Amino acid sequence: MIEKDFIPSAYNHTITEGKVSYKSPSNIALVKYWGKKENQLPQNPSISFTLDACATTTKISFKRLNKPSEEYSFDLLFEGNSKEDFKPKIKIFFTRIEVYLPFLKEYHFTIETSNSFPHSSGIASSASGMSALALCLVALEKQLNPEMSDDFFTKKVSFLARLGSGSACRSIEGDIVQWGNHENTEGSSDLFGIKYPYKVHDNFKRFHDTILLVDKGQKQVSSTVGHNLMHNHPFATQRFKQAHENLDKLIAVFESGDLKEFIAIVESEALTLHAMMMTSMPNFILMKPNTLEIINKIWEFREKSNSNVCFTLDAGANVHVLYPENEKDVVFQFIKDELIGYCENQQYICDRIGFGAKQLKMNA
Ligand code: DP6
Repeated sequence: MIEKDFIPSAYNHTITEGKVSYKSPSNIALVKYWGKKENQLPQNPSISFTLDACATTTKISFKRLNKPSEEYSFDLLFEGNSKEDFKPKIKIFFTRIEVYLPFLKEYHFTIETSNSFPHSSGIASSASGMSALALCLVALEKQLNPEMSDDFFTKKVSFLARLGSGSACRSIEGDIVQWGNHENTEGSSDLFGIKYPYKVHDNFKRFHDTILLVDKGQKQVSSTVGHNLMHNHPFATQRFKQAHENLDKLIAVFESGDLKEFIAIVESEALTLHAMMMTSMPNFILMKPNTLEIINKIWEFREKSNSNVCFTLDAGANVHVLYPENEKDVVFQFIKDELIGYCENQQYICDRIGFGAKQLKMNA
């Protein structure tokens, strides 16, 4: 598919008003997206576990205007309160997607959104937030064009979510989603995420992700600034190549169930992401002392218990502790005994692999 395929032809239905609501999860990348080209196209393929507990719920109420407005017409409520400082992001998003949703200026929207996790937790809300918004908008488009197939619906949502935030395109489906052209993944595309199409061993079916909130502060580097650091980065070419290779390795690991190899790839990806930030110009160290304490504790515990617990990181100080279902009791005990002390106010979030976004029923 190409970009043009997402531009609709004239709609055959008219809808004057209505409401639609979706709950969409966050996701945690195993092979990281870090570096992008024009139009939110990734420099390398990435793959993630869709999460379950960390999610955004968005409801859009729409009303057709008598005549299309000059500017986008919308109100935004975050956790029940009007939120002016989120509006510019949404405006930019609407500008990017209007060619694919030409009705945007024909409606007034009331967008009500809330997160299942605290806003100031340092947990990125762009993946769940942008995917929930894209879902609501394409659901409205489906009312204007009821012939839209389910497959096209999912692809278009992912395509539009990507234009809001790259990683958001991996949040629509579960339980494993891949985004970005990869020669050995059939159907993969830079334009949208796809559900991982190959065999996944039972070892990976019910993975857990306990998110340790090491630093709940505002992000020190916005993702856009971060991705831009990969332009002219001295190691960029090698890094993008490595992501392709790690994905190849992961395909084999998902099939065989080899947890030791899984750990090697996932931790290397996390540390490489941070190594890229440390070696760019300007450079950043986003790990905190407690991030390193936690990593060392995990390594120690693994050494002595032969557990299959491992970690991954986002572009920040928080640590995602990943472990298989059959180790959940021991690992969770270890987390409580030895890791929680390194979290800000002892805070953490228990999450696990999830199965993608859900439409919520609207009364009336
Ligand atoms: C480190 O998707 O937040 O989490 O496209 O600029 O919105 P934008 O970036 P974003 O970047 C996520 C980067 C990452 C790795 C990943 O999720 O793959």
